[in-house]
Amino acid sequence: VRLGIVVVAAGSGTRLGAAEPKAFVELGGATLLEHALTAIARLDEEARVVVVAPSIRVDAATAIAGRVLAPGYGTVVAGGAERQDSVAAGIAALAAADTAGALDVVLIHDAARALTPSTVFARVAERVRASGAGVVPALPMIDTVAETDGADTVERVADRSRLAVLQTPQGFPFAAYRAAIAGASTGHTDDTSVFAAAGHDVVTVTGDEASLKITTPWDLRRAELILAERGG
Ligand code: CTP
Ligand code: MG
Repeated sequence: VRLGIVVVAAGSGTRLGAAEPKAFVELGGATLLEHALTAIARLDEEARVVVVAPSIRVDAATAIAGRVLAPGYGTVVAGGAERQDSVAAGIAALAAADTAGALDVVLIHDAARALTPSTVFARVAERVRASGAGVVPALPMIDTVAETDGADTVERVADRSRLAVLQTPQGFPFAAYRAAIAGASTGHTDDTSVFAAAGHDVVTVTGDEASLKITTPWDLRRAELILAERGG
């Protein structure tokens, strides 16, 4: 197996405000985590998958992974306080499972982007192999965005034509990514920023509207519409 995928699902989902941690909230009869893993299970390429879950949901995540992934291809570990800690836990588990040292590419994906199509995973992995760079799916910026002084004063309206909205899965050469996170500072909310901070190039591929990050109750409604249009 050459492809490793870390699915971070250890967040609490404060902004969604559901009774369950966000990855365990249902969307059209299946949890967000199950939707995310289903897209991964549909990939043509075999992948070794690590799910990073809240410590109190490791058993539930193990049951979901066992139902969706091919036997022997999924592992579940507990996450950390910040997303970056959860990613680090997932990468460590992936490295431990890769006894043959065969993994060349790692993809890091938010379970909150439950409806990302399989084609996006394949596109990112292919571009990592072709370029050796970090790869992030992106869409053009629609809104007008400004830098402020941190309060109410606008300092600069950004040139929208140069802005992109970044999604996941974000992909990296596995060995280079492990080295990058070993030396990373804290406070990164995005994996490409860790890789770029280590001096590597990062390029974009085309993202997908269905990859929206489900953050608020309104996002969950949008995701329901996308799912209904797909036919369940
Ligand atoms: N995540 C994680 N570990 C954390 C925090 C976040 O694995 N300590 C994961 C989430 O489960 C999610 C992804 O990172 O799949 C993106 O995070 P976000 O959308 O912010 O999810 P939450 O942190 O759960 O939501 P909120 O910030 O509203 O609490
Ligand atoms: Mg969060």
